[in-house]
Amino acid sequence: MRKVILATLGALLMSGGSAPAQNYPSHPITLVVPFSAGGPTDAMARIMADGMKTALGQSLLIENVTGAGGSIGVGRVARAAPDGYTVSIGHLGTHVANGAIYKLDYDLVTDFEPVVLLPSNPMIFVSTNAVPAKTLPELLAWMKARPSPPTAGTAGAGSASHVAGLYFESVTGIKLQFVPYRGTAPAMTDLVAGQIEVIVDQTSNSINQVRAGTIRAYAVTAEKRVETAPDIPTTDEAGLPEFHMSLWSGLWVPKGTPKDIVAKLNAAAVDAMNDPVVRKKFENLGLQMPPKDQLAPEALGALQKSEITKWWPMLKAANVKME
Ligand code: MLT
Repeated sequence: MRKVILATLGALLMSGGSAPAQNYPSHPITLVVPFSAGGPTDAMARIMADGMKTALGQSLLIENVTGAGGSIGVGRVARAAPDGYTVSIGHLGTHVANGAIYKLDYDLVTDFEPVVLLPSNPMIFVSTNAVPAKTLPELLAWMKARPSPPTAGTAGAGSASHVAGLYFESVTGIKLQFVPYRGTAPAMTDLVAGQIEVIVDQTSNSINQVRAGTIRAYAVTAEKRVETAPDIPTTDEAGLPEFHMSLWSGLWVPKGTPKDIVAKLNAAAVDAMNDPVVRKKFENLGLQMPPKDQLAPEALGALQKSEITKWWPMLKAANVKME
């Protein structure tokens, strides 16, 4: 028996595949969403989980682990076993901005392996219908004329909606009163109810509320209008030229996860993003698919590093005080 086991292991090692990877995945995978259920990160996770399960032959179980701008959930994955059974979904906020705002007990780059770049979308300026402005110039004028800063919902310090708000403050000089939530789903609930006044949100989170008329949109932070929301002007058209921000997302696994497991997850995600049903779901939410030449794990890793270089100076200059 001992000889059989040694021979099998020898064959596996010769074939370059480790024993765990050969059988991977042999049970469901946990996909940790670092924000509340019902928000844009959660929605993307569920669409991807549904699309990936066929190729993987196992389900991806969504686990919402919220708090601290997404860093609680990301930290959970940083400390997980590097076996491919715990995956992190995140974005510019969680895997770039968090590192400039929090003293993290993990390193956003060296404690993770990038798996794949996911769809991206511009941010969108939205307000409650009670705000007496119909255009972006009118919104900015209203903000400037107020005795106190307008309340702006975010998914917590270091989240994408918070980064977009800080970027807005740095470009316009207009202060916002940030109101942190565990995700932009609860923030959206309060915006629709008129409990807060604005969100600089992911388009994918606001687009259906805008279509339903329960909130008002002013502009998207992109050079081109969102194809499935052609009535919403760009910031260039609406009087805030060059205010561009593309919110990209991605999948990561803990550092040390075997390369062939990373490759299996990458292949399943690429398969999902090539599925016309999945693509339609994303496009309806205003999300653009990643370029075909940016689908290798290394492309996500390179983007993350370049975005750290781009965003950290502004974020550190903002000198965000933790509540
Ligand atoms: C963010 O603002 O970082 C995300 O959009 C929050 C979320 O996905 O709920």
